[in-house]
Amino acid sequence: MSKRIKRNWYVPKDREMTDFDRRILSYQNKGKLVPSPKLIKTPEQIEGIRRAGFINTGALDLVEGEIRPGMSTEDINRLVHEFTIAHGAIPASLNYEGFPKSVCTSVNEVVCHGIPSEDEILEEGDIINVDCTTILDGYYADASRMFIVGGKTTPEKEQLVRVTRECLDIGIKAAKPWHFIGDIGKAIGKYAHRFGYGVVRDLAGHGVGNAFHEDPEVNHYDTHRDGMLIVPGMVFTIEPMINMGTWQVFIDEEDGWTVVTEDELPSAQWEHTLLVTEDGLEILTH
Ligand code: MF3
Ligand code: CO
Ligand code: CO
Repeated sequence: MSKRIKRNWYVPKDREMTDFDRRILSYQNKGKLVPSPKLIKTPEQIEGIRRAGFINTGALDLVEGEIRPGMSTEDINRLVHEFTIAHGAIPASLNYEGFPKSVCTSVNEVVCHGIPSEDEILEEGDIINVDCTTILDGYYADASRMFIVGGKTTPEKEQLVRVTRECLDIGIKAAKPWHFIGDIGKAIGKYAHRFGYGVVRDLAGHGVGNAFHEDPEVNHYDTHRDGMLIVPGMVFTIEPMINMGTWQVFIDEEDGWTVVTEDELPSAQWEHTLLVTEDGLEILTH
């Protein structure tokens, strides 16, 4: 049984068919999943996402300069929240589907969606993902980085952080216009497995820009599927979550958010918001 793919593309009534339409329709007619017209951002929308990206990058730079042993993850939340508000923007995570804080802070075996807390004190050698999403004038930008608290950790955790960063870069290089989203996870999975790492399957990258989470779904493992056609003007994240051990994860029942590795070995993640151009991906969250 094969799943019927939605025919997303159409020529809007207010204009003639172009070569761009014809090119997308030719894939759609071959049964490929293609974006809907609203996923192709206008120059004005791209500018808006870029501006949200500047503030988002500023917040992560601030954290990078301030993070140190003895700090609580709530201290990081406060830094991000106040910086974002001071720049006329809104932290997208706050109250998103009930999430209680302005940023996600995911320490060691926490994969993602860690909730900042006054009681969680960072120690030298911890590895932490800080995932920040900013709304400015209705436009969204989403990015995350890893930090090694105190600058030094074990060689194993250091390698995990570095290889995960490389997985993001490899994913970015694999995503070419008129290729497929499925190429991203294929490339990332192949590289991560060389180190014996697990690639998280339960969470994916996503379209972003006019909302927090849009199509397409961007898997970081090899699904053996093409996924959506990559078309200039699309904006999406790549955000591999790479585990030192098993790829399997569970959600903390107490808070309903915190995603933890099944074997409680460490996990790392890096994320950028990316614009598809004629010749590749442009990072909007540098
Ligand atoms: N920033 C995360 C992502 O990359 C989503 C966090 S949702 C939250 O998609 F509610 F936990 F903040
Ligand atoms: Co994010
Ligand atoms: Co994201």
